[in-house]
Amino acid sequence: MSAIDTANKKEPNFRSLKPSGHVGFDSLPDQLVNKSVENGFVFNIMCIGETGLGKSTLMDTLFNTSFESTPSPHILPSVKLKAHTYELQESNVRLKLTICDTVGYGDQINKDDSFKAVVDYLDVQFEIYLQEELKIKRSLTTCHDSRIHICLYFICPTGHGLKSLDLVCMKKLDSKVNIIPVIAKADTISKEELQRFKAKIIQELKSNGVQIYQFPTDDETVADTNSLMNAHFPFAVVGSTEFIKVGNKLIRARQYPWGTVQVENENHCDFVKLREMLIRTNMEDMREKTHIKHYELYRQKRLEQMGFIDVDSENKPVSFQQTFEVKRSNHLAELQSKEEKVRQMFVQRVKEKETELKDSEKDLHLKFEKLKNDHAEEKRKHEESRKALEEEFLEFQRRKQQVAASHNTMTLGKSKKK
Ligand code: GTP
Ligand code: MG
Repeated sequence: MSAIDTANKKEPNFRSLKPSGHVGFDSLPDQLVNKSVENGFVFNIMCIGETGLGKSTLMDTLFNTSFESTPSPHILPSVKLKAHTYELQESNVRLKLTICDTVGYGDQINKDDSFKAVVDYLDVQFEIYLQEELKIKRSLTTCHDSRIHICLYFICPTGHGLKSLDLVCMKKLDSKVNIIPVIAKADTISKEELQRFKAKIIQELKSNGVQIYQFPTDDETVADTNSLMNAHFPFAVVGSTEFIKVGNKLIRARQYPWGTVQVENENHCDFVKLREMLIRTNMEDMREKTHIKHYELYRQKRLEQMGFIDVDSENKPVSFQQTFEVKRSNHLAELQSKEEKVRQMFVQRVKEKETELKDSEKDLHLKFEKLKNDHAEEKRKHEESRKALEEEFLEFQRRKQQVAASHNTMTLGKSKKK
């Protein structure tokens, strides 16, 4: 049995052995860490939300930097997606961060197609990755992976539940991307209202079958925190680019005539929870779920569209080679039938042309015969009139001679008389 066969076959009874001395494979996790740190990390976030809901401010707040964004106009005829990539570094870890913004989302009078631009964008990123995977010379580790790992869906803080646009869009996206719904500008809603609002949102998501991202609970080191946080959805967030001084520390806050909202104060909003879950605890899980769940689904559908299958109708495995051979013979048969069609069409056209030519030859022949007859008739008429004229001329000559003879006779008579 080959090494690959052995690896693929599930062995229920592995023997468990302990080396009697230090071998060194316990350094494998360190090797992985070193490799990953050396390569750097990629994380792609998509922010979906109506214009002015605080998307850019929240990104600045999350990554504690200023990404310098410009406010979007409200008059765009359709939704556009804009992605910017930044290189961030914290300690010796490099992060290539892409923030993708939905410009003009929810601004159109007819919002039927608002989700379409987003779906297309997600599919295009999957397709780029798939095409790279299908190449003979692949560079999956060096090419930039632009697949979206998390989509923050900004909910308007109305207190009245979700808008139909929110539900339709999230429903269309939940099989393509990890969705975390957040209540934007949560400082504009009171504490009691917020609890009711959150419960209403969760109930609406459930009743409409929208699958939102769940923090993983299979790793026991984070299972408790993650399940607690799963119960906290949707996070009510506040963003700010302003800082105030508390003691000798500068903290992000929003100041109002009646008080101050501290972004990182857990009594004021869920921003810290979001940051903790998104960046510090579950970033790798989101990257992994994107690859093994959402991308896998896309890849499966696309390969099926291309005609590849894993098993045939009798549930027997079908190899790539077999699929290729079947596709090739189908393609050849199709080509042959097309060729036959073209050939038949050509013969038909030639026949049609031949009949056309024969008809016009017949026409010409008839025309020629008619012209010949007309010409003969004309000639005959001319001949007749020529003969008539000749006879007339001869008659005229004859008469002329008669007149001349009688004239001579008369002149001779007169001279004899004299
Ligand atoms: P577009 O890119 O134009 O769609 O807007 P955006 O969603 O990126 O919103 P942006 O971050 O530019 O913020 C719009 C306005 O909302 C600014 O005046 C922010 O100061 C304000 N804002 C942002 N976050 C919050 C928040 O949490 N609470 C309140 N009350 N205002 C906020
Ligand atoms: Mg913005």
